[in-house]
Amino acid sequence: MLCLDVHTLTGQKKLLLLVVATTVLILQYSTVTDGAGDENSGIAKPGCQDKCGNVSIPFPFGIGHGCFLNYEFKVNCTTDNVAMLSYFSYTAFFSVTDLNTVEGTRLLEINVTLGEARIQSPIGRWCNYTDNTVNGSFPYFNLGPSFVVSGTKNIFTGIGCATVAFFSGENKHDYASACGSFCSDEDSIDNSTDCSGNGCCQTSIPGNLDSFYLSFETDSDYTQVRNFSPCSYGFIIEEDSFKFDPSYANSSSFEEQYGGWVPLVLDWVIGNETCEVAKKNQSSYACAAINSICIDVPSAPGYLCNCSQGYEGNPYIDGSCQDINECDSPWLYPCQGKCKNTIGNYTCSCPLGTQSKDPKTASCTTSIGMSIGIGVVSAAGVMILVLVTIFFTKRSKRRRARKLKQKFFDLNRGQLLKQLVSQRADIAERMIITLDDLEKATNNFDESRELGGGGHGTVYKGILSDLQVVAIKKSNIVVQKEIDEFINEVAILSQINHKNVVKLIGCCLETEVPLLVYEFISNGTLYHHLHAEGSRALSWGNRLRIAAETSNALAYLHSSCSIPIIHRDIKPSNILLDDNLTSRVSDFGASRYIPVERSGLTTMVQGTIGYLDPMYFYTGRLNEKSDVYSFGVVLVELLTRKKTFPNLYSEGEGLVVDFACLHDAGNLIQILDPQVVEEGGKEVQEVAQLAASCVKLRGEDRPTMKQVNRSLEGILSPGMRAEDDCMLVDNEAPTTGDQPRMAEDRCMLIDVDDS
Ligand SMILES: *[C@@H]1O[C@H](CO)[C@@H](O)[C@H](O)[C@H]1NC(C)=O
Ligand SMILES: *[C@@H]1O[C@H](CO)[C@@H](O)[C@H](O)[C@H]1NC(C)=O
Ligand SMILES: *[C@@H]1O[C@H](CO)[C@@H](O)[C@H](O)[C@H]1NC(C)=O
Ligand SMILES: *[C@@H]1O[C@H](CO)[C@@H](O)[C@H](O)[C@H]1NC(C)=O
Ligand SMILES: *[C@@H]1O[C@H](CO)[C@@H](O)[C@H](O)[C@H]1NC(C)=O
Ligand SMILES: *[C@@H]1O[C@H](CO)[C@@H](O)[C@H](O)[C@H]1NC(C)=O
Ligand SMILES: *[C@@H]1O[C@H](CO)[C@@H](O)[C@H](O)[C@H]1NC(C)=O
Ligand SMILES: *[C@@H]1O[C@H](CO)[C@@H](O)[C@H](O)[C@H]1NC(C)=O
Ligand SMILES: *[C@@H]1O[C@H](CO)[C@@H](O)[C@H](O)[C@H]1NC(C)=O
Ligand SMILES: *[C@@H]1O[C@H](CO)[C@@H](O)[C@H](O)[C@H]1NC(C)=O
Ligand SMILES: *[C@@H]1O[C@H](CO)[C@@H](O)[C@H](O)[C@H]1NC(C)=O
Repeated sequence: MLCLDVHTLTGQKKLLLLVVATTVLILQYSTVTDGAGDENSGIAKPGCQDKCGNVSIPFPFGIGHGCFLNYEFKVNCTTDNVAMLSYFSYTAFFSVTDLNTVEGTRLLEINVTLGEARIQSPIGRWCNYTDNTVNGSFPYFNLGPSFVVSGTKNIFTGIGCATVAFFSGENKHDYASACGSFCSDEDSIDNSTDCSGNGCCQTSIPGNLDSFYLSFETDSDYTQVRNFSPCSYGFIIEEDSFKFDPSYANSSSFEEQYGGWVPLVLDWVIGNETCEVAKKNQSSYACAAINSICIDVPSAPGYLCNCSQGYEGNPYIDGSCQDINECDSPWLYPCQGKCKNTIGNYTCSCPLGTQSKDPKTASCTTSIGMSIGIGVVSAAGVMILVLVTIFFTKRSKRRRARKLKQKFFDLNRGQLLKQLVSQRADIAERMIITLDDLEKATNNFDESRELGGGGHGTVYKGILSDLQVVAIKKSNIVVQKEIDEFINEVAILSQINHKNVVKLIGCCLETEVPLLVYEFISNGTLYHHLHAEGSRALSWGNRLRIAAETSNALAYLHSSCSIPIIHRDIKPSNILLDDNLTSRVSDFGASRYIPVERSGLTTMVQGTIGYLDPMYFYTGRLNEKSDVYSFGVVLVELLTRKKTFPNLYSEGEGLVVDFACLHDAGNLIQILDPQVVEEGGKEVQEVAQLAASCVKLRGEDRPTMKQVNRSLEGILSPGMRAEDDCMLVDNEAPTTGDQPRMAEDRCMLIDVDDS
């Protein structure tokens, strides 16, 4: 372009050309720098590409060598200008047999301020067509250690008309949940955008999942529905991006609408240390900008960076957090007077001769000539006014807090609870604990007091003023229906007094979500004792006794009142052990009374995969036999010391089916825990027989909890068998039980609520 023969031109023309050439040079230079990102918005490292297609790629993410923080944040910008994260892996099991692996995950958006990334996530699918062909995809999605699935922005969703969609995953624990969606014909698909169980179902997911697996109940009966709804879908999706459309349940329009993928929000963090530890090694500390702060991420190892208040930019890049000129954005930083930017802040004042109480919110008005005297007086007046205002705002703040507590208390039917237990004023007095007391007991719900958390809530350890050590459960769910049922449960559980059921000490109703206070059980869960790495093996004697105690508690719940209580979520992690390894059944969060009538086909199945009664899936009908099934699974685990879900990759039949098959084949030795075989002798055979009968497919084929308990106690102490039988026969009469008066009271309480 510049290879003209300059000598042939006149001086003026030479000058003109020089100007043009310089301009071209400057233009060229600036396009080069734009592309290289030196003058980029400062979000990527100098010299790195800051965009792929229309997706901005801020550091710690980056394209190309030296541009990303570590391989997890490496972005591959393909020739089609699509940003891919190649660290994550995604595997799908198509039609159970063909394995298909897809490299890389499409990146949609990154938000550095929030520590979030939106990506494309796979859809699970199971189709059973009228010609009897099937087509399915059961994706397994695995994130890098710095990434987790956001528990607050995503939701698990199932679509279909004979659908039980599962997802399982891992955070600190294995986790699994399911939702069911049914419709008998095309007209019964919900004709609205509600995801209500007719054509569509949803259930929340726990926080911090770093992998998940989508699957289906593939044995569902499609006979009725497959001519109009052959496919079931299951996926975890950004909640705000999903709106149910009735046509999703009866056509392929769902997959077409979303293009075979759904958006998912991930949370990411830097490293695996707290800010305090990370700051010690400045060479690896990621908050590189001078005006940046480090933020500890609760519940995940690792930290995030942010620009300090008053600064904006990318805190991960040196020199990027720049002062915000607040005066340019009056809608964010109001000023009615004269705005002046300062470093890290701004001032707002009235021009000379005018005044305002607060120039940021009230406009400045011309002041009338004031004498010094008036000035002094008015200054004093203003002082008093200010003091009075402060006094009143403080008071009204306090009053507002008190009002809010009262509101929650009323909302939570504090009155109802009081009324329910008013026959026993002492219990009412003892049961309700104030929020103040619990805040004191837990040091304001300090993180260090967290004992654990799951999908439904967080458990804190607390010490009440009378030095009693307690476990305090804070639920995550805020649904009025849940809260009503919860109150009802409190009224009942408060009066259950069984040595193998964790005792409810009280509850606090002043928060939006009520808090439950249990006695603190010190020795962990049965799950921990069976499966945690390095845990000492329980002896066969202890295992048998724990099983007998647990079955005793369940038999009591099922039968000592005219309206039985079903636990619904029996599993080793809900069986706590105290110092003497005595079993305590806990977590009645999902428990229900047997419902008298059941509404239609619609059902939201709840519980834990692996322990869920299969018949409960099919029918949605809940009865005591569902607990018997779950208890059977626990027995199998006690016998085998294997997890129900040993391995998320396996499409295998699972522990229970394996156990049942080997039991039928008389080949149990293959699966039994060697220690059990050694210590248990012929008792093992009897317990295995019992376990196999508990996990029978048909509820009617399973024994009752009372029979199970009787058998276990018989095995535990054979000499006592005859006596036990007599005692249990006595118990069969509905009005007698461990505590006949209690039982009566409880039944009465339920009646009050039902009316
Ligand atoms: C990027 O482009 C795609 C398709 O061209 C569009 O769907 C998407 O919304 C765009 N993303 C952003 C952040 O603009
Ligand atoms: C980027 O993705 C393309 C297409 O998937 C692939 O061929 C290429 O090897 C990838 N590059 C890197 C560095 O991973
Ligand atoms: C990140 O999220 C915040 C809050 O929603 C928003 O204000 C900001 O614009 C987002 N940043 C980017 C780069 O999308
Ligand atoms: C960073 O600061 C912004 C603005 O103050 C705030 O909205 C955002 O939540 C902060 N990010 C984190 C991770 O705390
Ligand atoms: C299964 O369905 C998917 C999506 O509709 C399709 O791409 C795939 O080819 C089908 N597989 C078989 C074996 O029919
Ligand atoms: C769905 O409901 C809307 C409004 O309630 C009604 O106008 C429409 O006809 C209904 N569609 C079907 C297919 O039932
Ligand atoms: C498909 O559905 C039909 C009808 O419910 C059932 O008989 C058949 O076993 C199903 N096929 C598969 C492979 O599950
Ligand atoms: C599915 O149902 C919707 C209304 O609910 C209807 O408009 C649509 O035609 C149906 N699609 C098929 C393929 O039957
Ligand atoms: C933290 O990360 C470092 C380096 O990535 C690794 O060596 C170390 O094992 C990790 N620590 C934990 C507790 O995961
Ligand atoms: C500090 O971080 C650098 C870079 O990651 C690493 O090479 C070095 O060993 C670390 N130093 C200490 C004392 O941990
Ligand atoms: C900005 O100034 C106001 C009043 O001058 C002060 O209250 C506020 O704390 C300052 N903010 C920062 C980030 O320094």
